[in-house]
Amino acid sequence: MPTFSRDCLKGKNILITGGLGSIGKVVAERLLAHAARLVVNDVVPEDEAGHWIAATGCPAERCRYIRADITNSLEARSLVSRTIKFLSRLDVALCHAGLVRPGPILECSERDWDETLALNLKGAFLVAQSAASVMVQQGIKGKIIFTSSWVQDVPWPEITPYTVSKSGMKMLMRGMARELAAKGIRVNAIAPGIVAVGMAKRQWETEPDYRRRAEKAIPLGFMQPPESVADALIFLCSDASDYMTGATLLIDGGCSLYPMD
Ligand SMILES: NC(=O)c1ccc[n+]([C@@H]2O[C@H](COP(=O)([O-])OP(=O)(O)OC[C@H]3O[C@@H](n4cnc5c(N)ncnc54)[C@H](O)[C@@H]3O)[C@@H](O)[C@H]2O)c1
Repeated sequence: MPTFSRDCLKGKNILITGGLGSIGKVVAERLLAHAARLVVNDVVPEDEAGHWIAATGCPAERCRYIRADITNSLEARSLVSRTIKFLSRLDVALCHAGLVRPGPILECSERDWDETLALNLKGAFLVAQSAASVMVQQGIKGKIIFTSSWVQDVPWPEITPYTVSKSGMKMLMRGMARELAAKGIRVNAIAPGIVAVGMAKRQWETEPDYRRRAEKAIPLGFMQPPESVADALIFLCSDASDYMTGATLLIDGGCSLYPMD
């Protein structure tokens, strides 16, 4: 169901990483519903992605799945070049894939640290850098958009590698925005709150301490609908955000007002 005018993303060629995750699917469906052409990246098997694309009812020329592990620089670069082969040009790259490995900092393994930073920060960098290079080559004043989190600025307990990755992503976004502004490339981020699907929902359902803390942390009083993340991204993909760069669009139900009483 479109929120903005049905064709507000017509002519926009968009790549989204992690697009078959819980929030990613909602975002991808909404981008397609607003007339974008889309490459959806993830690491899920081809047949699973094929079923999802078929279920959207979108014609094959408007949406393609490209499987690639974006933590690997060769695969990340190849993802962007295969995206260009399909879309011909790239107007927006959404660096959306991410993971969380919850646990106390004193028990955080080297592996959990490395894998969190590898996907959330390095993977986002690799895709953003390749996408921006192509935009420069093609002379496109495109957009790079990162999916960060409200915890980029909040030391929320027991997810420290994750908060570090999103904090780093914020400075990656600002640094790229500063350097690429002269080429007309806008770089921004969204910072969602505690979303009712995906990683936060999994913690909400399995960790009583997390749930107790999270229930108190949302001033609006309910978990974030994933559609609200998609709508923020539609705005950032659209021409309406053309004068924004180097900004984080906070859309978190007031979570960043934490700590609550
Ligand atoms: N769920 C929340 O409450 C919440 C809140 C704020 C921000 N976010 C951010 O939103 C994004 C999506 O979160 P989600 O909750 O939908 O998580 P999710 O786990 O449902 O989705 C993440 C997707 O990334 C994919 N992925 C994993 N490794 C990959 C790789 N190497 N290359 C490409 N894709 C890979 C996964 O297969 C999965 O489909 C993340 O960046 C997350 O940090 C989520």
